[in-house]
Amino acid sequence: MSERHTDLTQQAIPTDIEAAIRELKEERRAIILAHFYQESEVQDIADFVGDSLALAQAAQNADCDVIAFCGVHFMAETAKILNPDKPVVVPDMDAGCSLADGCPADEFRDFVDQHPGAKVLTYINASAEVKAMSDLICTSANAVKMVNHFKGEDIIFAPDRHLARFVGKEANRSDLIVWQGACVVHELFSAKGLAKLRIQHPDAEVLAHPECDQAVLDQADFIASTTGIIKRAVETPERVSIIATEDGVFHSILKQVPGKVLYQAPGMDESCACNQCPYMRLNTLEKLYLALRDLSPQVEVKEPIRAKALVPIERMLSLS
Ligand code: 13P
Ligand code: SF4
Repeated sequence: MSERHTDLTQQAIPTDIEAAIRELKEERRAIILAHFYQESEVQDIADFVGDSLALAQAAQNADCDVIAFCGVHFMAETAKILNPDKPVVVPDMDAGCSLADGCPADEFRDFVDQHPGAKVLTYINASAEVKAMSDLICTSANAVKMVNHFKGEDIIFAPDRHLARFVGKEANRSDLIVWQGACVVHELFSAKGLAKLRIQHPDAEVLAHPECDQAVLDQADFIASTTGIIKRAVETPERVSIIATEDGVFHSILKQVPGKVLYQAPGMDESCACNQCPYMRLNTLEKLYLALRDLSPQVEVKEPIRAKALVPIERMLSLS
């Protein structure tokens, strides 16, 4: 077990954990931010649930003394970069991301150096160090707009190759210089399995996240960020949707449209829960309670990395 893990067997967890979290939240003047990929009970106790763009905006405007961030590390780190004077606690410090982990800062520095003069546009799923080397940050909700911001200029796009390919097509930029990272969840949806499911449900609308492989995106009726997928599933007249993203979004859709029929796009290995992000799912109500009680673990970002990373994040927020 890593030292950063909390050993829950050693901890007194209150029976009514939701009430205990609410009490602590008042006491600490804390705000709980959660991503759509969190367990439903974590989403339900949060003050705000959103996609990575909306969460960064919520963090920027947070009126509180403490931020409890239920998501993955790069999201909480972004909140800390925007709020250097506030403690930002996370339920589990090991909640990482394959995209952020697959783009180490020293290797990315070499990559950038190989393309002098190119603007560096980085997906928010990256470490603070990588953000600090960037000219602009984007999320899946605004990536096309951010690419268009650098019209006529060379662009390095990192770290997701699937999002890069999607955005390149949408923005008519086949010349993006791409870091070849991928998401372990979205890359594992099976195009073959999806084709079979579509045959079984010919009236279903297929909604996909742009981190998916091209063979999956080719079968999608609608491609968007998690917020976009949820909005579409709620608003479309189609009764049935097939969803190619993490299945945490089901909770939000079904809360708004209880009669909706949702199918998960199948993974390559039918026996695994590959449609659940293993990092996001490390967070639990118990760990959230302990994080608020102990104000630990806290995300820290050292200067001058924080100040450097703040510039492209704020640029994105002002352009969004
Ligand atoms: P969103 O920006 O759509 O919330 O996506 C974040 C993410 O990590 C997708 O895997
Ligand atoms: Fe990272 Fe993929 Fe998990 Fe999103 S779903 S946080 S991109 S590993």
